[in-house]
Amino acid sequence: MLETSGETLDPEDWRAFRLQSHQMLDDMLDYIENLRERPVWQKIPADVRAVFQAPMPKAPGDLASAHEIFMKDVLPYAIGNAHPGFMGWVHGGGTPVGMMAEMLAAGLNANLGGREQIPVEVERQLLRWVCELFAFPDTASGLFVTGTSMANFISVLVARTSVLGTAAREKGLPAEHRLVAYTSASSHVSIAQAMDMAGIGTLALRRIAQNEQYQMDATALEMAIEQDKAAGLRPFMIAASAGTVDVGAIDPLNEIADIAKRFGIWFHVDGAYGALGMLSVDIAPLLAGIEHADSIAFDFHKWGQVPYDAGFVLVKDGELHRSTFSSPAAYLQRETRGMAAGSPWPCDFGPDLSRSFKALKTWFTLQVYGSEKLGRIISNTCALARYLRQRIETASMLELLAPVALNIVCFRYLGSDKLNADIVVALQESGIVAPSTTMIKGRLAIRAAIVNHRTQRRDIDALIDAVISLGDTLGKTDEYK
Ligand SMILES: Cc1ncc(COP(=O)(O)O)c(C=O)c1O
Repeated sequence: MLETSGETLDPEDWRAFRLQSHQMLDDMLDYIENLRERPVWQKIPADVRAVFQAPMPKAPGDLASAHEIFMKDVLPYAIGNAHPGFMGWVHGGGTPVGMMAEMLAAGLNANLGGREQIPVEVERQLLRWVCELFAFPDTASGLFVTGTSMANFISVLVARTSVLGTAAREKGLPAEHRLVAYTSASSHVSIAQAMDMAGIGTLALRRIAQNEQYQMDATALEMAIEQDKAAGLRPFMIAASAGTVDVGAIDPLNEIADIAKRFGIWFHVDGAYGALGMLSVDIAPLLAGIEHADSIAFDFHKWGQVPYDAGFVLVKDGELHRSTFSSPAAYLQRETRGMAAGSPWPCDFGPDLSRSFKALKTWFTLQVYGSEKLGRIISNTCALARYLRQRIETASMLELLAPVALNIVCFRYLGSDKLNADIVVALQESGIVAPSTTMIKGRLAIRAAIVNHRTQRRDIDALIDAVISLGDTLGKTDEYK
């Protein structure tokens, strides 16, 4: 008889495991409840980094010790986006509800590639909800993905199919494809990356000039398309931004939709964080025209506050989307009954076959908070940005560098780029509040992106007070004169 070990990875002592698990849950809830008492971010000591250079363990350890390492050496040294003082880049804050849902999803360990299972129905329900939100037809398709970078990539591939057909999937791009796409000068780098990964190349991405509001200039767009057509090129996609990463500008979506329609070009909207502004009564009107998009890329993990990661791609022509990705394989045979029923599957709409249950934490977030409250949270981040603008405008040593369209504010302390860069580093190291930097018209800006639902006026006050005090102190030293 063949010997088998009978060994599994389940606990030998479930009671002890349960006690330890409850402790882990409590510790994490304590962390979230008391976030304000902690620094936003802190420098990583060398001995902490060294913990993660140890070799792979061969013998079993125990859960309590692993948890202890997490509490001591991981948790305090995360980037801090859950903290109310975090304003760097565009990161969502997460919620305890999302955290609990993520735990349930991990326990279920569902693989959302496809097949006949309710987890896939949950994802389809989310798709219907977002179709309603963006006034898309019920023939539209959509998919949870890691983030907007992946959603932009998928959209470029579907747009490519819309002009070249599925032949390009077999033969690759024709040597002289002549495809060209258009985006604003400050669109996110993932659009160019998508052109690169799609084999079209970044040089085929035209950077259209912006107006004073940092929105794509529709007249310049039209001229660029006409010029390219006259030169024998094939304009195939316009990638507009609904909330640019730098300043939160929304491109003129209705005008761009008209141009796309007139020239028969795919109209894509990168709405990484801005698209969910549709949940907010005062932001939704600013997004008018988004309903004309052929595809939208956005993240629930930004303004939607769903824990990382939860990106989404929405495509109006579901059939075209499917034809861009579906691939026959004997082991993915579909049936009308049994576990292999329920076709088409999510794996027919993107490159991932194994997929996590991102839909569950998003579903819980909407079930528990409701779309109206999430919308109010979004509105509030914009109100905080306007409050920050007001404080900047009334401080003589501060200068506003860009209009405040949504929730991002770019400003600086009067002085050099280096002074402002060092103020930002000092702020981050202080642990009080953490903005990041960007370049606006060649000048370094302190950039506060207010995305986190926990951020309040006192955090804005702390930012302004700290910038002024650091600017006053550092500015007096010889280094910055
Ligand atoms: C406008 C815009 N597009 C794309 C992205 C990339 O999104 P992700 O980080 O989810 O891939 C971002 C990220 O901040 C963004 O702001």
